[in-house]
Amino acid sequence: MEQLNAYLEANKERFLNELIDLLKIPSVSADENFSNDVLRAAEVVKQRLLEAGVDQAEVCPTKGYPVVYAEKIIDAALPTVLVYGHYDVQPADPYELWDSPPFEPVVKNGDLYARGSCDDKGQMYMHVKAFEMMMKNNALPCNVKFMIEGEEEVGSVNLETYAIENKDRLKADVVLISDTSMIANDAPSITTGLRGLTYLEVEVTGPNRDLHSGVYGGAVANPINILCDMISSLHDADRRVTIPGFYEAVEEVSKEERDQMARAPFNLDEYQRHLEIKEVMGEKGYTTLERTSIRPTLDVNGIWGGYIGKGAKTVLPSKAYAKISMRLVPNQKSEAILHLFTKHFNAIATPSVTVKVRPHHGGEAAVTPTDSIAYKAASKAMEATFGKTPIPLRTGGSIPIVTMFEKVLGVKSVLLGFGLDSDAIHSPNEKFGLFNYYKGIETIPYFYRYFTEMSKG
Ligand code: BES
Ligand code: MN
Ligand code: MN
Repeated sequence: MEQLNAYLEANKERFLNELIDLLKIPSVSADENFSNDVLRAAEVVKQRLLEAGVDQAEVCPTKGYPVVYAEKIIDAALPTVLVYGHYDVQPADPYELWDSPPFEPVVKNGDLYARGSCDDKGQMYMHVKAFEMMMKNNALPCNVKFMIEGEEEVGSVNLETYAIENKDRLKADVVLISDTSMIANDAPSITTGLRGLTYLEVEVTGPNRDLHSGVYGGAVANPINILCDMISSLHDADRRVTIPGFYEAVEEVSKEERDQMARAPFNLDEYQRHLEIKEVMGEKGYTTLERTSIRPTLDVNGIWGGYIGKGAKTVLPSKAYAKISMRLVPNQKSEAILHLFTKHFNAIATPSVTVKVRPHHGGEAAVTPTDSIAYKAASKAMEATFGKTPIPLRTGGSIPIVTMFEKVLGVKSVLLGFGLDSDAIHSPNEKFGLFNYYKGIETIPYFYRYFTEMSKG
């Protein structure tokens, strides 16, 4: 491992510059104006994997953006690690809120600022560089496969088909993913649970056209007013979701796990200060960490309708819209929750309006084991490089492919993330600490080594 550290030290600058080049490509999967850039990013990832030393790499077409697949098989009798990551990024809007342009990466105070720096190009590229290090130093202890996709930020809709069609090729003993965060740089953690998701859009229609708000106002239902009423009725005074059956499948977490969560370092004052809020708000009876990990939620992500241009226009709009997401916990099924929502939303609509519910994407929650060889190897690897045993912790975000891989490939994942919640993923000024980037590159080879050793028994 000393040799690897020396190699990392000697190549730090190049490792950073290569990531910067990748971050310059605006591979925004949600916006078709960037489709050439998304495709270009796939080619670059393939090329970099080849340079790092894989036997073969391929840009595999799907109905959407391609999957980059690569492998290095040294001995069929040895364990195989399947690395998953994504090369697509979230839209950078609103651009004016960035201190520097999102696709012109800059390093400031030890942090690399760019869209995708943490989610997930930076974290994905740690694996490419860790692999290069092992290859160049004759230190690769097992087989590796890479599966880097380009549609994670739009729901990975074509990945299940790809996995089914490539089941043999993707055969592995563990899926290794760096697409989550840790508690802090001096408090490493490993993610052991992710929430599921149901994402949908609602449309509320009142009169057949926009009306004069003076001539008709007071007598005709205003769909924006109605939508607001409907939305606010979706939570009760205890901030619980009021949709009948919403909590039915929810698995109550054991007292033991809740006690363990309560011991994780978390400073509520600091949390509030960071967000410039005076007080947090959420479901009664649960702590902030619990509210964002083991409890399901409902949030409006966007709401619009009527006149939002300059000045004032007196109008009673015909339509109102909202985008709504529900974060789900184990046992809640994304489809089932969509149906419960749809039924309830129709039931609470007044006869003065009509409503439509349009599903977007969804995904299932995941819990990953802590008693597996893979978890133990990841824990030991972090211990080796951080000097501290990482804390197992569930998180609030979603990576729907974790459950899908388990279902289709029969392989469980390890969520070895190196980001921080303060990295502002999906927000303006996304960043990734250079400390975190290099720490990830340093830690990953330990995982390979311990995983291989422990697999041999
Ligand atoms: N990397 C994130 C998920 C994440 C972030 C997990 C931080 C844990 C901590 C991923 O790229 C993401 O943004 N997922 C989406 C879901 C997807 C279906 C669009 C999400 O969580 O909103
Ligand atoms: Mn991600
Ligand atoms: Mn993301």
